[in-house]
Amino acid sequence: MRILSGIQPSGKLHIGNWFGMMKPALELQDQGETYLFIANYHALTSVSDPDALRRETLNVALDFLACGLDPERTVFFRQSDVPEVTELTWLLSIVTPMGLLERCHSYKDKTAKGLSPNHGLFAYPVLMAADILAYQSTTVPVGRDQKQHVEVTRDIALKFNNLYGPVFTIPEPSIRDDVAVVPGVDGQKMSKSYNNHLELFGDVKELRSRIMRIVTDSKSLADPKDPETCTVFRLYRLFAAPADARAMAERYRAGGYGYGDAKKALFEAMQNALAPFRRRRAELSENLDGVEAVLRKGAERARTAARETLDKARIAMGLA
Ligand code: ADP
Ligand code: TRP
Repeated sequence: MRILSGIQPSGKLHIGNWFGMMKPALELQDQGETYLFIANYHALTSVSDPDALRRETLNVALDFLACGLDPERTVFFRQSDVPEVTELTWLLSIVTPMGLLERCHSYKDKTAKGLSPNHGLFAYPVLMAADILAYQSTTVPVGRDQKQHVEVTRDIALKFNNLYGPVFTIPEPSIRDDVAVVPGVDGQKMSKSYNNHLELFGDVKELRSRIMRIVTDSKSLADPKDPETCTVFRLYRLFAAPADARAMAERYRAGGYGYGDAKKALFEAMQNALAPFRRRRAELSENLDGVEAVLRKGAERARTAARETLDKARIAMGLA
């Protein structure tokens, strides 16, 4: 099994990213060879400030290393340090039907949110397919919103293999159903673009105030409450031990337990869960050269694998 996933350095990582992508990807480190990269080519579709892109790329590297990415076991790199994927993107473009890209939700969603409707944004799934196929990945852990892109990747790979011979491994998405969508403070899907997120490594005061502003219904303290429909409880359950989550659910149902208390408990649970990561991140920030060295070494390993696939594709297509 070869596992691959990427994340865009387009803003601070939040707990939706953690439960939906980072945690599952890190857990898979034990199950096979893992490739994890910072998708800075993809981020160019939304970040136009070069300093911001460099800063956020470094932040993502720190976040992953702080959260338990082991660079010995996992090939961890910056997407743009492997330029082979951009060449592969072109080769894959040749077998990508326009209709396949036109059906992708992300282009429509992102242009509706104001991103520039350029070719890069439209062709984004082909670059993602190149990321996945370059390393002959078998398993791609992603959130539900990225599932369509893995399906597009499969279609492209099958089409290529049919036309030119068996060059690519057909990948499978791996979606954790139990944590499919983490709600944001307004109850919608947590996303930095809705500004309803709770940052993984944000300022503690800001975290507390965002938790205190989580939208709840207007039931009074005495009323029994439904934990399953409450954003505070749904977030608490992600961080608390199962017994503590069951205890909170009982308090909700019994009545006499207010949302304010639940929010305080959520804040505490988050703080406890994230404290070791915060400590590790502070240590890593003291040694940025070390972080850079990790990314460079990862890129070397990634390039070797990508080169091999690219050469096969070039030969299959008659370029070499
Ligand atoms: P955002 O919506 O904040 O821009 P991204 O689209 O960059 O987040 O998502 C990066 C990764 O994190 C993807 O794999 C995505 O599926 C996952 N992810 C993002 N938000 C959530 C969420 N609320 N719940 C679960 N997974 C999420
Ligand atoms: N498009 C993904 C996102 O926005 C990031 C990404 C780029 C990716 N290439 C990938 C994820 C390859 C998995 C595999 O979240």
